[in-house]
Order: sequence, then structure tokens, then C-alpha cells
Amino acid sequence: MTEPHVNTDSLIYVAGHGGMVGSAITRRLHDAGYRNVLTRNHSDLALDDAVAVEEFFTAERPEVVVLAAAKVGGIVANSSRGADFIRENLKIQTNVIDAAYRHGTEKLLFLGSSCIYPKFAEQPIVEEALLSGPLEKTNLPYAVAKIAGLTMCAAYAEQYGFNAFSVMPCNVYGIGDNFHPEHSHVVAGLMRRFHEARLSNQPEVVVWGTGSPLRELIDADDLADACLTLLLDYDERGVINAGSGQEISIRDLALVMKSVVGFEGDVTFDPSRPDGTPRKLMDNSKLTDLGWRPSLGIEAGLKKMYAWFTESQSEKQ
Ligand SMILES: NC(=O)c1ccc[n+]([C@@H]2O[C@H](COP(=O)([O-])OP(=O)(O)OC[C@H]3O[C@@H](n4cnc5c(N)ncnc54)[C@H](OP(=O)(O)O)[C@@H]3O)[C@@H](O)[C@H]2O)c1
Repeated sequence: MTEPHVNTDSLIYVAGHGGMVGSAITRRLHDAGYRNVLTRNHSDLALDDAVAVEEFFTAERPEVVVLAAAKVGGIVANSSRGADFIRENLKIQTNVIDAAYRHGTEKLLFLGSSCIYPKFAEQPIVEEALLSGPLEKTNLPYAVAKIAGLTMCAAYAEQYGFNAFSVMPCNVYGIGDNFHPEHSHVVAGLMRRFHEARLSNQPEVVVWGTGSPLRELIDADDLADACLTLLLDYDERGVINAGSGQEISIRDLALVMKSVVGFEGDVTFDPSRPDGTPRKLMDNSKLTDLGWRPSLGIEAGLKKMYAWFTESQSEKQ
């Protein structure tokens, strides 16, 4: 089988281009001179609607698909609306992966999440840890949907020879992040709280937990760059981790955030609140073996994100 060749003339559909990861991938493709990047707003194409997806693929026949559309949320939303998370994500993935295969897409990149790995997986987590133990319960429906998606890609690759593979990022932050109190992840949640504390001259920001858990963070633009590298240079099937290898404790993250936001009060920790998983670091050697490295450290990434956040806040006013 000759491997497909992704080039600047390829017709590339970025599903979920309005989201944090999808918008970063779209920006990266445009910056790299890709001329035929295809996008649709959620309001114009609901990917959970099989008929609409079929019509879209029949008309457009994209050569490359990046599946960055998903129903995504933080702990609160995940634990209170698990049914919505599993239903929406199963529908989106099934519709897009199957239509892409049937309409001749040559390469498909499916975005998963590190929550697919077992709760007690040995660290750093290798791709082979998949399905080797029980999962974290708080986002089980979401994680199971993602596991179904990556298994679907692997099964279509195995049975039909479809060139589909799955990318598992660590925690992503950056331009386009979600700052909603229920839907935000750790970085955007902290940024918002420090920002509001600075504006209202609060004396302290209280951070949940002991501050000791370690998290691996990747800037969305760096993840987009990793995805482009994989589209160009990776022709294996299955799952590949896409982390930065940059690990930071919640305590240090809070202190860097305080400095980036310019908050002058105190930072305290509330150990009566849950810490969550103590450590989540992925083994990214498959990706780094391709020569890929992140371009930004955490402080530089947070400065870029905060500049974008404050600008978008002032535009709203
Ligand atoms: N954020 C992270 O830390 C992180 C970490 C690891 C992996 N990932 C993965 O990366 C992918 C993208 O995440 P993200 O953070 O960029 O999420 P996001 O900002 O919420 O973006 C998701 C995008 O999907 C669209 N979408 C959702 N349901 C749709 C539907 N039924 N039809 C059409 N479009 C739909 C959304 O549009 P609307 O907003 O209009 O609904 C949005 O543009 C996900 O697969 C996620 O698992 C993210």
C-alpha cells in the first residue's frame, strides 16, 4: 500500500475548528501554508446528526480529517451529565470516522485524551497501558466514549486498511480555552480566579487541595504543531501520546499564575478539598522519536494565554 501524502494542497477538514484544539490546528495549518482547510460551524453542521454528516462528506470528500470536535467538560459537568457526554461523543465519532472511511479520506487523526488510561497506570504512561486497569470514575462515560473512538479507528485500520490513528494529549491550555466555572480545566480555572481576585483586590486566592499533585501541560499551539508533525511523518496505526513532558505541581502552577496575572495577595491551599490523581505524566517517546519538541515553557505559554484572555475580555465590554 502506498502511504498517502499530506501536502499544502490537501483538502483538510478540521472538525471542531471553533474549539481550543481545533482552532489551534487550523491556525497552524494556515501558518504553514495549507491552502485548502475546510471548516464548518457547529450551527451549520451538527456532527451528531448522521444524515447531515453523510451529506457533508458526499459533497466535500476531504482527503484528510482532523477530528477535534467533541463534547468536552470539567469534573462538575462530567460527573453530573455523563449520559450527554457518552451519547454526544459516540455519535460524533461514529458519524465522522465511518463517513470519512466510506468517502475516501486518506488520513484521519482522532483526538482522545489521557483520561483513557487506567487510574493507576504506571508513570510515565506508555500507550500500551490502554485497557490494562480500571478507569477514573468521575469521567467514565467520556473516557469510555473516547476508548470506543480510538478502538473504532484501530478496527477500521485493521479490517479496511483505513489510515486512522489516535492522538492522546496531556492537559491542554492556551488560546481559546474555556473559562466557564463548570467546564474549565485546571489552568483556565486558576487563571480566571486569579484574574478576578486581582480586579477585586481580594486578599487571597484559595486553591483546592494540597497543591502537591503533578500535571503535565501542553500549550494548544504546541499540540497543534505536534498534530501537524504526526499528519506528515507518522504512518503507524493505533494510539500515540502527545504531551510536552513539562510537569508542574498545582502549587507551582498557582505561583506562576499569580505572577503572570499580577495578583499581589496570598495564595493558600485548602487540603480539605480533593486533590484528584496525584500524578499524570505520559511517555511521549514515540512523538519525540520523530524529532518533535514543544516550543514553549509553561510560564511563556501562560503569558501568551493571559494576553489573549485579557484582550478577549476587553472586547466583550
Ligand atoms: N482541553 C484539553 O485539556 C484536552 C486534553 C486532552 C484532549 N483533548 C481533546 O481535544 C479535543 C478538542 O478539545 P477542546 O479542548 O478543543 O474542546 P472545545 O474547546 O470544547 O472544542 C470542541 C469543539 O467541538 C465542537 N462540537 C461539539 N459538539 C459538536 C457537534 N455535535 N457538532 C459539531 N461540533 C461540535 C464545539 O462546538 P461548540 O462549542 O459550538 O459546541 C467546539 O468547537 C477533544 O476530543 C478533547 O478530548 C482536550
